[in-house]
Amino acid sequence: MIKAVKGMNDLFGKKAYRWGRMEEDIKTIVQTANFTEFRTPIVEEIALFKRGVGETTDVVQKEMYDFLDKKGRHIAMRPEGTASVVRAFIEHGISINEPAPFKLFYIGPFFRYERPQKGRYRQFHQLGIEIFGDDTPQMDGEMIFTACRVLEHFKIDYEVHINSIGCKECRPVYREKLVEYFSSKKDKLCDDCQKRIETNPLRLLDCKTCNPKEKYQDIPVMTDHLCEICDDHFKKLQKSLEIFHVKGVIDPFIVRGLDYYTRTAFEIVANTGGSQNAVAGGGRYDNLVSDIGGVDTPATGFAMGLERLFDLIPEDFYQPPMISAGYALCEEAVDDLVHFAKHMSHHPVTFFADYKPRKIKKVLQKADRSEISFVFMVGENEVKNKTVLMKNMKTGEQKLYGQHEVILIVRDLMKAEANFLKKNF
Ligand code: HAM
Repeated sequence: MIKAVKGMNDLFGKKAYRWGRMEEDIKTIVQTANFTEFRTPIVEEIALFKRGVGETTDVVQKEMYDFLDKKGRHIAMRPEGTASVVRAFIEHGISINEPAPFKLFYIGPFFRYERPQKGRYRQFHQLGIEIFGDDTPQMDGEMIFTACRVLEHFKIDYEVHINSIGCKECRPVYREKLVEYFSSKKDKLCDDCQKRIETNPLRLLDCKTCNPKEKYQDIPVMTDHLCEICDDHFKKLQKSLEIFHVKGVIDPFIVRGLDYYTRTAFEIVANTGGSQNAVAGGGRYDNLVSDIGGVDTPATGFAMGLERLFDLIPEDFYQPPMISAGYALCEEAVDDLVHFAKHMSHHPVTFFADYKPRKIKKVLQKADRSEISFVFMVGENEVKNKTVLMKNMKTGEQKLYGQHEVILIVRDLMKAEANFLKKNF
């Protein structure tokens, strides 16, 4: 039997319905904060991620899905969204054509060849937001606040961890301090971290294999080595988070797995106690636009894992949709049902027709199994009298309508739906 590719999921039925509602709510939240949708292709030239995300990152070294196309071009399935958006930002001259700040969001699939487990997939989905052309710490604050607004909407219990990882001026000095500190402990580090001392020493701080941050209490931290400008930025960020009522804890071990960050770095963890509880992460990346060949443009953003978010949303957060269905109780009723279905299709109610004639008992069993709320039946009598019999499956109440009284039917259905739908906003 052919099965789905490992680490990649199908989505259908009730889960797809709840997922769709979740995406709609997210869009409403970010659009009201004036983020506009931005779509980029699923694939890019691999060079973009090497340059953008960083040659030495796990994402680029170990986790990329890449292939040669028919002309031998080296292509990668996008492992994250920021590099693609920056590529498009430059390619379309957005810094020239649009007023700053340029605020955008994306929702879509991403691909990383990681070991699959609950909350970690090879195809997963992210909500991302990116803000270009604004270097203020307050915009970092708003960016983090936007992630919190999404989580608050879904009533999720979470914690924000913030850090500053400095800039081109102060980070190299700190990096040297780290190299010096860990060089004497090299043999106690895992194989990856032994290499990281040379290639990417900051990543030692969040290694889950040899876990240095748990073992050593006196590891130098970036926040003690920030230059004046970065220090001021970090303090103002904290002030703005206070004003936004975002409760962040300073966590000097947030270093992020992607190389493009400057100053602000943050992660949000859900208070579930489980693994894979990092639901969102991001920060400022003031050098990325120029590194990829654009004009110097400050930028900040985050991405939220939608599978992880989905798992945190209580199952009854969304009620299932109210569905009505029409059935024929005999062969002679089928054409009347077709007419009725056509009239119903002009109105904003969820209705479908099942044209295969059935006995009333079978109709009700079928409707019950399909969780239909209102059943409309046309039998011999109804054909004769040009009527349709409605049964409310919850209350058992029945009502006879004229087949042409569709407006009346729709009004009654919409009234019932208004009472039925949980208001989330
Ligand atoms: P990231 O931390 O690599 O950041 O990913 C963001 C979120 O995506 C994670 O916190 C997690 O919830 C989710 N995620 C990552 N990998 C997986 C996976 N294999 N399975 C399920 N969920 C996953 C970025 O991607 C940056 N582009 C964020 C950003 C935007 N920074 C600035 N702007």
